[in-house]
Amino acid sequence: MHNKFYVTTPIYYVNDTPHIGHAYTTVAADILARFNRLRGISVFFLTGTDEHGQKVQKAAEEKGLTPGEHADTMVKNFENLWKKLDISNDAFIRTTDEEHRSVVREMLEKLKQKGRIVKRAYKGWYCTPDERFWTEKELLDGNCPECGRPVEEIEEENYFFLMSEYRERLIRHIEDNPGYILPETRRNEVMGFLRSRDLGDLCISRPKKRLSWGIPLPFDEDYVTYVWFDALLNYYSATRYLAPPLGTEPWWPADHHIVGKDILTTHAVYWSTMLMALDMPLPGNIFAHGWWTVKGRKMSKSVGNVVDPNEMIEKYGADAFRYFLFREVPFGLDGDFSEDALIGRINSDLANDLGNILSRTLTMIEKYREGIIPEAIDGKDREGMEKRIRAWFDAESTTGMSNIFGGFLEKLEFHHALALLWKVMGEINEYIQRAAPWKEKDEGTLSNTLYTIAEALGILAVYLFPFMPATAEKMWGQLGIDGRIGERKELPKWGDLQVSGRRVRKGEHLFPRIEKRKEEKKEAVPDKKAKEEKREDTGLISINDFAGVELKVGKILEAERVKGSNKLIKLQVDTGEQRQIVAGIGKVYSPEQLVGKKVVVVANLKPAKLMGIESRGMLLAANDGEKLVLVTPEGDVGVGAGVR
Ligand code: ME8
Repeated sequence: MHNKFYVTTPIYYVNDTPHIGHAYTTVAADILARFNRLRGISVFFLTGTDEHGQKVQKAAEEKGLTPGEHADTMVKNFENLWKKLDISNDAFIRTTDEEHRSVVREMLEKLKQKGRIVKRAYKGWYCTPDERFWTEKELLDGNCPECGRPVEEIEEENYFFLMSEYRERLIRHIEDNPGYILPETRRNEVMGFLRSRDLGDLCISRPKKRLSWGIPLPFDEDYVTYVWFDALLNYYSATRYLAPPLGTEPWWPADHHIVGKDILTTHAVYWSTMLMALDMPLPGNIFAHGWWTVKGRKMSKSVGNVVDPNEMIEKYGADAFRYFLFREVPFGLDGDFSEDALIGRINSDLANDLGNILSRTLTMIEKYREGIIPEAIDGKDREGMEKRIRAWFDAESTTGMSNIFGGFLEKLEFHHALALLWKVMGEINEYIQRAAPWKEKDEGTLSNTLYTIAEALGILAVYLFPFMPATAEKMWGQLGIDGRIGERKELPKWGDLQVSGRRVRKGEHLFPRIEKRKEEKKEAVPDKKAKEEKREDTGLISINDFAGVELKVGKILEAERVKGSNKLIKLQVDTGEQRQIVAGIGKVYSPEQLVGKKVVVVANLKPAKLMGIESRGMLLAANDGEKLVLVTPEGDVGVGAGVR
């Protein structure tokens, strides 16, 4: 394990206001940063803004401001949001920082001296919104292949970075380092791209007469550097003037660059080859996560479906929002955001599971021990009860929570990490049920039970902290534990928290249930277009209506018949998170036939109770009146994959 950890987010363009996509990447980095600090590792967590370029220049002109003034006002939107979202970044870089600009010039000079930058006449198709040149072949129906907008043909002299020379070396690096680009599908995409075509050289400049809002090239003041060359170098330049002190060891290279899949090529190819040319080490990993849509559509101002994270935080709190983003969709896959699904998660996972287990525990400690957490009592442990709970918290054991959790976070499998915490919570709940303190006659056993639950919840809070920092601190406060989780430099082992003798302070419920108001139920996120389409009553549904149904691939983990019914089977299904589904397929399938099967699940169905058993979702099955068969994916595809 390293004793330093450096994680970055993309630096966001200042000309847009932040939306849930920006929040997503930044919270992901925050989770990793917080977890590593908790392990006693020195962390540098960097985010910031990308402020040069044509788009900013244009947007500023439209507002009658200088680009600098425009950037200064827009940057606040990001800084304020990160505060509200409890983002613990150590630094915030702006590409307009003088220090950054001077590092970029230094690197340009270095590459020029090494003969890695040359001047050439260049003709190409330029997409202004994306600030990228494309070749004729790359265009899609004559438009930008990335954003679909029109491009203009431009011919001019420019400076090029000789990127093509690094193709083989980059292929080898990716082959030799399977974790370099993740998830694997993205790695394959990059490999496919590199193998299938020649890598061109990278145009890194713009004539100043066309674009003045940039960093002048040190060797030719008539040019400024092109946006990506400037932007990507932020990851390194920040280590030179913004990073906390770290003895003699340098902060570079980064452990993780977390980015969205939209900017994978620029990171995997441009940045990697730039570093090779500069003789600098490559980062440990580039992780390209998936895309959030709303009702299956890209968020855009013109459709009117952009979800403002500020509004979500005001309505539901930062922690619920953070939790939802990472529990709902496996990191790496695309996801569809809906306020309904967020409320569903709050009510089931946060109010019902997490909130209730804490409030129940505190009530018992108040009732049976006058609010003081009792001591563990020797000789009162029972085989399969306390020992089983403690086994989860055994830091040495490979099957203990801390090891499994750490492993998940190292691979950025956030949804698995959360599912694990909820599994442990489920076990604690089951333990409470079995130990039944309300029936216990033996005082020693009762004390031992209450102690065990309190200690377990205290440690669980530490593991929740990276995801839900304020909630975790609140849990400690209510359990009466001294100090703050955020100041810890070591993950606690069983007994470390010394919960015995603490006076609990039962406060308000962590997550009160949210009752949806009628008008909110109808349209959680306004979508102008969908409303118009609904008006034409043809009996047909719009693509938006269909997109409202969230279908996912799931794997059946467990199946058992529901007692007293020959039709219902209770299933545990992994759809990226474990969920219980009761399905009426018992006449056709036996439980044994079902385990291990991959199925298609309606994932955003309102929870319902069948014969008193909660069911969250529905399996798709085809029925021709005589035969009923489950719908299964035709090829091998990962659990949690969306079905469209
Ligand atoms: O590309 N779903 O900045 P940017 C998920 N300045 N993530 C999303 C998203 C969505 N719908 N929309 C945006 C730039 N993101 C450059 C980066 S880095 C050296 C320069 C997130 O403001 C995601 O992380 O367009 C994506 O990569 C990033 O915002 C793009 O931010």
